Amino acid sequence: MSSIPKDRSHNGNLKNPEVPDKTRALNTESVAEVGKKAIERPRALNIERQRSCDERSMSELSMATKADNCSRPGDHLDHLNSPLPKSGLNTPRSVTLDPHPITSEAWDALRRSLVYFRGQPVGTIAALDNSDEKLNYDQVFVRDFVPSALTFLMNGEPDIVKNFILKTLRLQSWEKKIDRFQLAEGVMPASFKVFHDPIRNHETLIADFGESAIGRVAPVDSGFWWIILLRAYTKSTGDSSLAERPECQKGMRLILSLCLSEGFDTFPTLLCADGCCMIDRRMGVYGYPIEIQALFFMALRCALQLLKQDAEGKEFMERIVKRLHALTYHMRNYFWLDLKQLNDVYRFKTEEYSHTAVNKFNVIPDSLPDWIFDFMPHGGGYFVGNVSPARMDFRWFCLGNCIAILSCMATPEQSTAIMDLIESRWEELVGDMPVKVCYPALETHEWRLITGCDPKNTRWSYHNGGSWPVLLWLLAAASIKTGRPQLARRALQLAENKLSKDSWPEYYDGTLGRYVGKQARKFQTWSIAGYLAARMMMDDPSHIGLVALEEDKTLKPLLKRSNSWTF
Ligand code: GLC
Repeated sequence: MSSIPKDRSHNGNLKNPEVPDKTRALNTESVAEVGKKAIERPRALNIERQRSCDERSMSELSMATKADNCSRPGDHLDHLNSPLPKSGLNTPRSVTLDPHPITSEAWDALRRSLVYFRGQPVGTIAALDNSDEKLNYDQVFVRDFVPSALTFLMNGEPDIVKNFILKTLRLQSWEKKIDRFQLAEGVMPASFKVFHDPIRNHETLIADFGESAIGRVAPVDSGFWWIILLRAYTKSTGDSSLAERPECQKGMRLILSLCLSEGFDTFPTLLCADGCCMIDRRMGVYGYPIEIQALFFMALRCALQLLKQDAEGKEFMERIVKRLHALTYHMRNYFWLDLKQLNDVYRFKTEEYSHTAVNKFNVIPDSLPDWIFDFMPHGGGYFVGNVSPARMDFRWFCLGNCIAILSCMATPEQSTAIMDLIESRWEELVGDMPVKVCYPALETHEWRLITGCDPKNTRWSYHNGGSWPVLLWLLAAASIKTGRPQLARRALQLAENKLSKDSWPEYYDGTLGRYVGKQARKFQTWSIAGYLAARMMMDDPSHIGLVALEEDKTLKPLLKRSNSWTF
């Protein structure tokens, strides 16, 4: 057990009066320090975009089988030049928990989920549940592989991560079509699988860019996760040669051109279709969902560290820096909600015109949902689900808020407030199984209207307020980064009581997350890897350097809303 002193308040900040002492920060300061050092620490080692005939698109296969030394722009953002400082290995283990018997079982299950392509491990299958209809759970999903990748990196097994990065990069170079419409070059697949042709005894990869997915939505998050993973690999191994390869540089630039391109936008946020991320069905997250904005922010910051300073790289860095400044301002101001801000919205005037408007997006106070008034604690806050003209989605989403902390999209004060909220609303957001994907659930008329009567997304199930064990790693990383490891420990204990007994379900249902999800797959790989990743970060907090960025001091702190036009 830890030898870290008890009874400290997190980060030396004032305690939230609503949070009972017994649930509060034990062991905080040294963990935060180790976490901070991990973000800073070093070691350096030092394709053409054409379609391979070995690699075919999912739609085709389904048819076939139906049968210089100058300073970099943005250097200030992380004080880091490539190669990235190495993190993780050989660092002090400051909050080692007692080994838990399910850890070795989880490792066995994770290894069983490995997917091989021509003899090499290239990813992990989404679920190894043979009892149910497979749908697309027999594929390697880019987003699902992230916790597996982190687990392998933390365990000193980077090769599979490298293989995955290179294979998905090859898939990006495919020509992608949905019906007769050609998708942009930079789009990364949602998932892929290995097809074994028994007659030719030959393996090929088949990918899905949205053309097979429910709703036919391209995964906006895949490209961002790919860049984030490339940085995690570089950080973990100290090997910058992978990121420096021309094909990786080009892959990154293609992803970036997609999201930095100019259009009719009046906001620096990224406009998205419903279902383009982890929540990959209609759930009313279209517009500017927090999950995508936070991943976008993080990927931009990671790309700044990974891009080479050649002519093309520099041009992108300049565009990234500009976008980050605007995005930071927009997110920290307009997406942020705490008691004061809630009260301001409650008293908003509408129909304001011109630069002096306080209620810039013309949000109508009557659109504030009833639940928000009790849910908002005195001392906490969070980034709301979505902000667009006349529309604020007040729901809390786990992934976006955790990534906001890890990427420093949130100011240190906002990060602390997000954790305060999780602590104050533990029963609602964590309950019996960490963590709710969003809160609260849509019910009755709203559910009908917003989900289109989706029977999989009924209230407190699946994407509609279901509890997803994969989110444990994000909660753990955010807890460690903010110096609140006791929250991660509580969450881990809850998960350890049930996950293995329940055969590692994909998600849980109910207001408290007490029931194995109605249609949840068993042996869902990212539930297994999410647990392992959380556990390993707790055992060695320096590992969070793989997914946590340092604060950029040059990004302006929170400004008053009404100041933006004079900024
Ligand atoms: C479901 C989830 C999605 C996940 C996939 C594979 O479609 O909504 O986020 O990537 O399953 O696990």
